[in-house]
Amino acid sequence: MTMEKDRVLIFDTTLRDGEQAPGASMNKQEKLEIAFALERLGVDIIEAGFPVISKGDFDAVRAVAKHIKESTVCGLARCIKKDIDAANEALKGAKKKRIHVFLATSKIHMQYKLKKPPEEILRMAVDSVKYAKTKVSDIEFSPEDASRSERGFLFKILEEVIKAGAGTVNIPDTVGYSIPAEFGKLIADIKNNVPNINRAIISVHCHDDLGVGVANSLEAVRQGARQVECTVNGIGERAGNASMEEIVMAIKTRSDIYGCTTGIKTQEICRVSRLVSKYTGFVVSPNKAIVGGNAFRHEAGIHQDGILKERSTYEIMRPEDVGFVGTGLVLGKHSGRHAFKDRLKSLGIELKEDEVDRAFDRFKNVADKKKHVFDEDLIALVEDEVKVFQKTWHLVSMSAQSRTNVAPHVEVVLKSKGKEYRKASTGDGIVDACYKAIEGIAKIKGELLDYTIHSVTHGKDALGEVTVKVKMKDKSVIAHGASTDILEASAKAYINAINKVLSQQTGPKY
Ligand code: KIV
Ligand code: ZN
Repeated sequence: MTMEKDRVLIFDTTLRDGEQAPGASMNKQEKLEIAFALERLGVDIIEAGFPVISKGDFDAVRAVAKHIKESTVCGLARCIKKDIDAANEALKGAKKKRIHVFLATSKIHMQYKLKKPPEEILRMAVDSVKYAKTKVSDIEFSPEDASRSERGFLFKILEEVIKAGAGTVNIPDTVGYSIPAEFGKLIADIKNNVPNINRAIISVHCHDDLGVGVANSLEAVRQGARQVECTVNGIGERAGNASMEEIVMAIKTRSDIYGCTTGIKTQEICRVSRLVSKYTGFVVSPNKAIVGGNAFRHEAGIHQDGILKERSTYEIMRPEDVGFVGTGLVLGKHSGRHAFKDRLKSLGIELKEDEVDRAFDRFKNVADKKKHVFDEDLIALVEDEVKVFQKTWHLVSMSAQSRTNVAPHVEVVLKSKGKEYRKASTGDGIVDACYKAIEGIAKIKGELLDYTIHSVTHGKDALGEVTVKVKMKDKSVIAHGASTDILEASAKAYINAINKVLSQQTGPKY
């Protein structure tokens, strides 16, 4: 890969390191949809998975490799032949591909984890890079735990893997131990002490255990790193990885300091952030930089006054530059289908005609009950219409009774293939009763691993969005449902989870 001097490559590892976050696993279709969104975002390299680790990972990397044309697709491998073979096999269909091999180089990892002396580590790294290079021309090497590695050994291994054919050397702060000045110095030292470093791109990969993953990455850019590995919303192992959106917007907003650009179409950032949040079930906290719900909201009177007089008084980035969706009043109950579709389009949501019909029906329904319909409401409403799974079951109606000291009672009517089914149930609580009735109809049992509800906008008439994580038939899935009635939102989320599991059984879409 050739690159201009001032361009920082964005290597996104949401689908690999991001997915290593406890509870973040995604299925193949979800990963593929995220990969498409990352490609549209302008990410240079998408690390799609670790193919040798499981059949699911292998298949996901293969699917991403087959469909993604603009970004380079990368597969991770240890310095083991079978790992490199698996990565190579999974990447076969890719237009642009990279194998990323890694091996730990810190004393603590070599001695206790790998139980191998440094000479053997050096030999394994060089042999693996050479072997991978016989398969794919674009090779990246990572000395895992680089920030805690003995400097002389680190410089030597980098020099040798570059000689062996690595075009990118990635410096991971695997355990998030480094602090910015120190990490920046490490990058400067690598530039000064690895004789052939000009033949490779220096990349960095920072974890956030001390909350400085982004700061470390940015300091590395200042010292000459020209690839940054990061994840959407900063998800990842333990405290996560450096957050893509924060790095990109810092480089853009403070180009006076960094003197670099990225290829990211920043207007797509919030859209990708929402997608990742939706499929991982990880809610983005309101105060999260760039993509948090409050990131562009000004509450204090003095700030609001300043903003009205001159935006730059309190605004260093424009919300529209990151595709931030505000709470502007958009549509009411008299709005037509055309205006509805146009509004969705401007929010970056494109649906097929039948999906628009269903979403429009739901919108009309909500507009009848709710005084103001905001952009955020629209997104929540249509998101479960954007099909990534077949809808076997639909909610037709439900009724519920709940009284103090009496077991709650819920009756649900579901539809499948044109036929309606009815079931009533009691339960420990109203949601439990509702889920028992749904399970009774769909003849499937699930374990509810997580249940969250949040109000999409403000006010008593706000839409409630329920997210459930459910284990069914040995699969764990995340699904959502939105409604002004929170029990209905709960039912929809559970039905969507069942539909998702059933559609995974009947075979993938891609
Ligand atoms: O954190 C780490 O060291 C990694 C490597 C595989 C690059 O994720
Ligand atoms: Zn990592």
